[in-house]
Amino acid sequence: MFPQTRMRRFRRNENIRKLVRESRVHAEQLIYPIFVVEGEDQINPINSMPGIYQYSLDHLLEEVERAVSVGINSIILFGVPAEKDAVGSGAYAEQGIVQEAIREVRAAYPDLVIIADCCLCEYTDHGHCGIVTAEGEILNDATLNLLTKTAVSQAAAGADIIAPSDMMDGRVGAIRNALDEAGYTQVAVMAYSAKYASAFYGPFRDAAGSAPQFGDRKTYQMDPACSVRQAMAETELDVEEGADYIIVKPALAYMDIMTRTREAFYQPIVAYNVSGEYAMVKAAAANGWIDEKRIVMEIMTGFVRAGADMILTYHAIDVAKWLQEN
Ligand code: PBG
Repeated sequence: MFPQTRMRRFRRNENIRKLVRESRVHAEQLIYPIFVVEGEDQINPINSMPGIYQYSLDHLLEEVERAVSVGINSIILFGVPAEKDAVGSGAYAEQGIVQEAIREVRAAYPDLVIIADCCLCEYTDHGHCGIVTAEGEILNDATLNLLTKTAVSQAAAGADIIAPSDMMDGRVGAIRNALDEAGYTQVAVMAYSAKYASAFYGPFRDAAGSAPQFGDRKTYQMDPACSVRQAMAETELDVEEGADYIIVKPALAYMDIMTRTREAFYQPIVAYNVSGEYAMVKAAAANGWIDEKRIVMEIMTGFVRAGADMILTYHAIDVAKWLQEN
């Protein structure tokens, strides 16, 4: 009875295929990460992330302009300080590298959405995201004070959104309170809620010089094999404490978490397409093994289909350019 070509009617030609598409990627939903380094005239390539560089302040606006010129409205900034210490003072210094970068970008682009990664690991000499005892334990509550100082200093510099990536318990509430008390009630919190202790962050740690000098992050970031319920519990706590946006990270191996958080919460969901995911694609593309544009667009579409509202990705400028070509 049924004709053989029932479903294929949707695929007959490009315009029909476009007509029935549900998942579309657009430049407005992309967030472009930029690394800012202290010093002058620095454009330092990151070996494990072809196409990504650390920029000193005097080159920062050129890179921001490259993103803005292809229709990207949001960036996230990561600071790489010249000096690191045990308590990550550079993270909350008024003249810290990220604070200066935010001021610089804000002055040139009043409407650009500036997100500030809020963590200590780029600024601590031990590379951990919190205060460490002599025995090597990462202290939760003592770390919160430093994170709140960091968040407030970033808001004062002009950040629109603070993105805590440390995975200490209670940090979203502490940051929310501190922002409100300082008068930054309009500054939002984008919480790395479902963040896993992942091998996919390797290239980022080259870029930020933030690899832990001993141990690992498994006592604060989630176990990749933990139940989905634990990710839901983490996210629920962050939402109760005031998270405005939810990040799922990494993205590719955690698309189920994206779908589940999208169903369970009303907050916008951000897919963080992390450094290792980027490095794999770039390496395979450089070898001529894959079609980079098609692979990247398929990955981006997959995030949207899985439930992501926004995509934080090192591919953002390429994606925005490819979208313009279509
Ligand atoms: C800081 C932070 C990390 C990433 C984002 N913020 C590194 C980590 O947790 O070790 C990773 C991003 C990436 O791999 O692209 N805590």
